[in-house]
Amino acid sequence: MRILVIGSGGREHALLAGLRGNELHVAPGNAGMASLAEVHSVDVASPEAIVALARDVGAELVVIGPEIPLVAGAADALAEAGIDVFGPTKAAAQLEGSKAFAKEVMAAAGVRTASATRVTELAEIDAALDEYGPNYVVKDDGLAGGKGVVVTQDRAAAEAHARAVIEAGNPVLFESFLEGPEISLFCLVDGDTVVPLLPAQDHKRAHDNDAGPNTGGMGAYTPLPWLPDNGVERIVAEIAEPVAREMVARGIPYQGILYVGAAWGPEGPAVVEFNARFGDPETQPVLSLLKTPLVRALTAVATGTLAELAPLEWEDGYAATVVLSAEDYPAAPRTGDAITGEGLDDPTTILHAGTALQDGVLVSSGGRVLNALGKGATLEQAVDKAYEAVEKITLQGSFYRRDIARKAIEGDIRVGS
Ligand code: GLY
Repeated sequence: MRILVIGSGGREHALLAGLRGNELHVAPGNAGMASLAEVHSVDVASPEAIVALARDVGAELVVIGPEIPLVAGAADALAEAGIDVFGPTKAAAQLEGSKAFAKEVMAAAGVRTASATRVTELAEIDAALDEYGPNYVVKDDGLAGGKGVVVTQDRAAAEAHARAVIEAGNPVLFESFLEGPEISLFCLVDGDTVVPLLPAQDHKRAHDNDAGPNTGGMGAYTPLPWLPDNGVERIVAEIAEPVAREMVARGIPYQGILYVGAAWGPEGPAVVEFNARFGDPETQPVLSLLKTPLVRALTAVATGTLAELAPLEWEDGYAATVVLSAEDYPAAPRTGDAITGEGLDDPTTILHAGTALQDGVLVSSGGRVLNALGKGATLEQAVDKAYEAVEKITLQGSFYRRDIARKAIEGDIRVGS
């Protein structure tokens, strides 16, 4: 099948690796993808440009990686052009594009989540801080590329973030803090049919022991040894299925990945956030364990036949990824430095994110530069392999977290019920 993948990060490199065996095209791509796909340029915010490229390459399926084209309406434009697309419509992608919309859908569907207040005026910030402290969760209501959420006990920092969001013209959401370890569960959704992938956990803070600023994600592992045996079934039954049914009832059926970001608190899972796409970096380890051809799963959703898909098959064991980030990520990542080392051409070991070729030299071009992957019979073995791979890479000023999955390995994550 001829497939066009839209995006340029580690997630899209993992999608391409999972789609090997097909004729692959990617746009805008990165330097690591050329061995798997023909790389094209495109403005990801332009549905028209994506349709034009899909026509040019004769794509039979378009897989949209990031949220920006989804929220801009790329899936609608492709469907109108008669091209199969994996990714929700603009209206359905509002589950990620507007946190206020997502809250409204969850309330209607009876899904557990944090309570929230939407604030649009600077003068309302103080009262919201009084209501929600001492753990402040302050979110930009729109898309913010992973930088929209501040979770802090520092009232001044919470206030500064709220001010910045409102001054940039967006509403801000104050939320109650959800207790418990976080889970990323990606669900294939086709109308009211929901098929979960393996559960994963991201590490969102920049530094070890969850210190430092929020990032797009510094490392992840799958599956989760601490999750109750019925954990995935509960997230599907208590969150994903009611939301999928509510979207159908509203006349905006969801087709694509519904990324359920949940916290497992004393009453079980509660929603922290939804995304309308695969997560990055969790996709990298999750797809590395998928035995069912990825094209089969994505096509089933794109063609409205997910209910007929045979159960997904997975490798036994665990997978993990460690993200190598550029100096000063996420504040002001340094770019343009040479990357050298082993495994850079092997997508089973290294998946590229912020990389480019400059005069034939592989250089850093973004904050999250590479993802080192490892698999093993135990979680510890998988993590050790990922660290072995990242240690073989040299990039001046770069850093990575040394504690990916450590709490899970040491049995330090406990859930309430
Ligand atoms: N891993 C967080 C995200 O993809 O949004």
